[in-house]
Parts: sequence; C-alpha cells; structure tokens
Amino acid sequence: MLLTNLILKALVIECANAALTQVTNFGSNPAGIQMWVEVPTNVAPQAPIIVALHGCHGSAQGYYKDNNLPTLAKQKGAILVYPSSTHDLLCWDCGTKKSLTRDGGGDSQSIVQMVKYALSKYSADPSRIYIVGTSSGAMMGNVLAAVYPDIFAAASVYSGVAAGCMAVPNGTPPNPYDPCALGRIIKTSQEWGNVVRGYNPAFGGPWPRMQIWHGTSDDTVVYQSLVEELKQWGNVHAVSFAKNTTNTPENNYTRMTYGDGSKLTGYSVKGVGHTVPVHPTQALSFFNL
Ligand SMILES: *[C@@H]1O[C@H](CO)[C@@H](O)[C@H](O)[C@H]1NC(C)=O
Ligand SMILES: *[C@@H]1O[C@H](CO)[C@@H](O)[C@H](O)[C@H]1NC(C)=O
Repeated sequence: MLLTNLILKALVIECANAALTQVTNFGSNPAGIQMWVEVPTNVAPQAPIIVALHGCHGSAQGYYKDNNLPTLAKQKGAILVYPSSTHDLLCWDCGTKKSLTRDGGGDSQSIVQMVKYALSKYSADPSRIYIVGTSSGAMMGNVLAAVYPDIFAAASVYSGVAAGCMAVPNGTPPNPYDPCALGRIIKTSQEWGNVVRGYNPAFGGPWPRMQIWHGTSDDTVVYQSLVEELKQWGNVHAVSFAKNTTNTPENNYTRMTYGDGSKLTGYSVKGVGHTVPVHPTQALSFFNL
C-alpha cells in the first residue's frame, strides 16, 4: 500500500513536471500565434531560455514530445518556450517583409515578445537565450538570429535554410516547395552576409552562434541549403572552414568546424532525409549549458 502510494505520488510529480502551459498575455502578438511554456520548479533567477520551434504541420505539443530536449534542458534549469503556429500548413512565416523586419508585425516579432515576457516574468538571463528549430522552425531560427541578433546568443537548427532565402517581398508566406527549399537560390558568402547585416545595419555584434544540421538525402529542403547557411554565417562571423570530423557525434554524421567551432559548426548527415533528428545533448553543449 505504501509502495503503491509512493509510485502514484512519483507519477503525479512526473506528470506535473512535464507539461506545457499556454500564456496568452505575452504582448500585442501581431502575428496571432500561440505561446506555450514550461518552467522548471523553483526556477532560479538568471535562468537561460530556450525557444523551440516546430516544423510545418507541427505544434508546440508535438515538438515538445519529439525529443528529450525538455528533460535535458530542465536539468540545466532552462525555461522552455514553445511557440505554436496558427497559420496555413502550421508553418512559420520566414518570408514576408513583416517577419524579416525588426518589429515589423510578423512571427519574428511575436516570438521575441514571448522571449521578453519570459525574461521579465521569470527574471531570466538576457545573455542566455537560445533557439532550437526543425525545418520551418530551423528557417525561423535563422530569421530570428538575423533579424534579432541582439536577443539570441546561439541556435541549433535542423534541416532549414539561410536567413532571407524564403523572402517574398509582397507575397504570402512561402511553403516548403518554393525555389529556396529546392536549393535554387544561390548567393556568395558576401551576399548572404549582406542579407543578414541588412536587417540591422547599425548592429556590430556579437552575432548569434550557429550550429546547423542537414541530411544529404533531403528532397524537401535540399542539402544545398546547408551549404548556403554555412556561407551566410561563415561570412557574418568571419570564420572559415577549418576541418571535418567524421562519424561525430555518431556514424554517418560529419562535423564541419568553422574557425574554432564556437561560432559556427555544421553537421552533414549522410543518408538522412527530411528531417535530421534534434540532438539535444550537442545543442545544449554548443549553448555552453
Ligand atoms: C567536409 O565534409 C563535407 C560533408 O561531408 C563535404 O562536403 C566537404 O567536401 C568536406 N570538406 C573537406 C575539405 O573534406
Ligand atoms: C550509414 O550509412 C550507410 C550507407 O551509407 C548505411 O549502410 C549505415 O546503416 C548507416 N549507419 C547508420 C548508423 O545509420
């Protein structure tokens, strides 16, 4: 009887510790998207914040259950913010001028409002705000790093595209089948760097550190996207390719180190399609958590 009670109590605590709660009063929310959070019990002041961005057809809840980021992040005392899209196809808007302009009224602004709400509500650490994102969420991770470089310290993104690649000046948010995702938008490093710097001409750094993962067999968001992202962030950080390390962190993964690896690291994943699984251990380590 005592044992049963203890097991029941443990289960109740486990459930109470693993759940997202919706926040509705996080700001003007011009994009009309949703904010979900999980805050570790007895969250310490100056806690880090991780913003986790789902892919198309996704949701905060689905991405929360997709991998063990929540468990590992909570062990580090991190506050988790899971935005949830309400748009067609449940993608993020990584292409309209609204989202590619600071405080332009798009998804990027609504997501930054979530971050600011969490910073103030939990007295979190403004210098430790991180992004994890998959597919459309990885594209949005690149956009947030480019449009709000002063807010985010680092990102770990899976199967996305370079910031600005999805740009459609007056159109609706593009879907994953557009020329960008098919690898038809090719720019030089300098041109890609100029795209990022163009969003904040006065910003002098430091820029968000980027860890970028992509599968060689991806036909939805093709592998060329990794090449373009590495060109972009290599130029922004002024770091060049240094070395490859094969079978790291596991078989068929090649780690591509730029500079000393602290500002930009790519992972090329042989034989994997859309999407590369989130690697929470490597992400948290890259964030220095
Ligand atoms: C590094 O690895 C990537 C992915 O396998 C490959 O495309 C690139 O050619 C490699 N570079 C060098 C110098 O080995
Ligand atoms: C690595 O790729 C090879 C084919 O290139 C495949 O046979 C092998 O199963 C893969 N290994 C893992 C661990 O996925």
